[in-house]
Amino acid sequence: MNSHSSKYLSSPECDSISTCSSSMSSYYDQIVELHVGYKKVLVTGGAGFIGSHVAEHLLERGDDVVIVDEMNDYYDVRIKESNLSMLVEKFGDRVQVYRGNICDESFMLDVFEQTRPGWICHMAARAGVRPSIQDPYIYIQSNIVATTLLMELAHKFGVRNFVFASSSSVYGGSKSTFFSEEENVDNPVSPYAATKKACELLAYTYHHLYKLNVTGLRFFTVYGPRGRPDMAPFKFIDRVSRGMEIQKFGDGSSSRDYTYISDIVDGVVRSIDRHYPYQIFNLGKGNGTSLNEFISIVEKHTGKKAMIRQLPDQAGDVPYTTADVTKASILLGYNANVSFDDGIRKTVEWYRNARNEKFNKLLISPETQANGFGRSPSFVEMPLREFSVGAGGK
Ligand SMILES: NC(=O)c1ccc[n+]([C@@H]2O[C@H](COP(=O)([O-])OP(=O)(O)OC[C@H]3O[C@@H](n4cnc5c(N)ncnc54)[C@H](O)[C@@H]3O)[C@@H](O)[C@H]2O)c1
Repeated sequence: MNSHSSKYLSSPECDSISTCSSSMSSYYDQIVELHVGYKKVLVTGGAGFIGSHVAEHLLERGDDVVIVDEMNDYYDVRIKESNLSMLVEKFGDRVQVYRGNICDESFMLDVFEQTRPGWICHMAARAGVRPSIQDPYIYIQSNIVATTLLMELAHKFGVRNFVFASSSSVYGGSKSTFFSEEENVDNPVSPYAATKKACELLAYTYHHLYKLNVTGLRFFTVYGPRGRPDMAPFKFIDRVSRGMEIQKFGDGSSSRDYTYISDIVDGVVRSIDRHYPYQIFNLGKGNGTSLNEFISIVEKHTGKKAMIRQLPDQAGDVPYTTADVTKASILLGYNANVSFDDGIRKTVEWYRNARNEKFNKLLISPETQANGFGRSPSFVEMPLREFSVGAGGK
């Protein structure tokens, strides 16, 4: 049981201690056996941040991996190319790479016919909350339509387990600050969040109709080496390292749950290895880090003082959000064990090497990345909120 269990018992979602205790004991009743041994896993979005780390882990332990990625320019494609090169150099033909759109039915049918994966780890998606408001259709296509197609193929090709990325953003409309999977999340506040919730619903349908084993994972802001340049941890490390200004909203006491990539990979792989009929899990660190703490940890590891532009609180921002990971802890044996301090230390170490070796040449910087439309906005053209640390990114 993790350190939040007592909080879980008294969280607002639980009517009484006995209700929560019984739901926890029912978790123990649901534990399924671990599948050990070789797997061939289709990793969609395998050129991206989380997908490339999961693929690397699976290959390292001896599984074979098929990657499908369309290499879109939501952020600099050279980052994705470099992720793929690293995997191919390291693992040779144990990793097969298909470049294409997962919404393309005949392309995906070919991939399944040629590779016949037994497991699917579906990480491909359009990510990012704000761009989804500007262009919802591409999110509906890449997230909902593609996930439906993949589950259809998974069912037809007898896939043993389908694991997919959902997001903590499904809790967007929630009034609570300690998010449990038992909470009602019927009020998504962005098209991105709505697509993730829709995928969770469709996943249930595929489980119900065809007994497809499906697990949805609600990730809480993931960071680490090779991390997405549109997200706060990367942006802060980069800007502070380069002596550029960062923006601080409010008094800095608001906090978020940030999860280090190796903990997320651990949770994803545990989900691949346990064939739950239908489950949704939070994967987070299980505790929050305040904005003030965040800034001082970045300062400590970069060895630079942050130049802060103080701004008022953003309307609607909740002061404290964190993942309740009790369910993942019981059913998957998941426990995040990288502290934020250690995670930022490792990320800064990676950033320094990557910048020295590649970034100076590649000119990767958050100011020229990730508006979701393949354009390169300058920092000043973007609305202030886009660069809020508190927002964390999804
Ligand atoms: N990083 C986080 O903090 C976070 C938080 C919550 C949820 N998630 C979810 O986790 C998953 C992985 O996120 P990430 O941070 O690694 O993002 P990422 O953008 O680095 O990776 C996603 C990959 O999917 C590919 N892709 C997108 N649409 C595609 C399509 N139609 N066909 C083929 N490939 C396509 C992209 O090219 C990219 O390489 C996503 O589903 C995301 O929504 C991430």
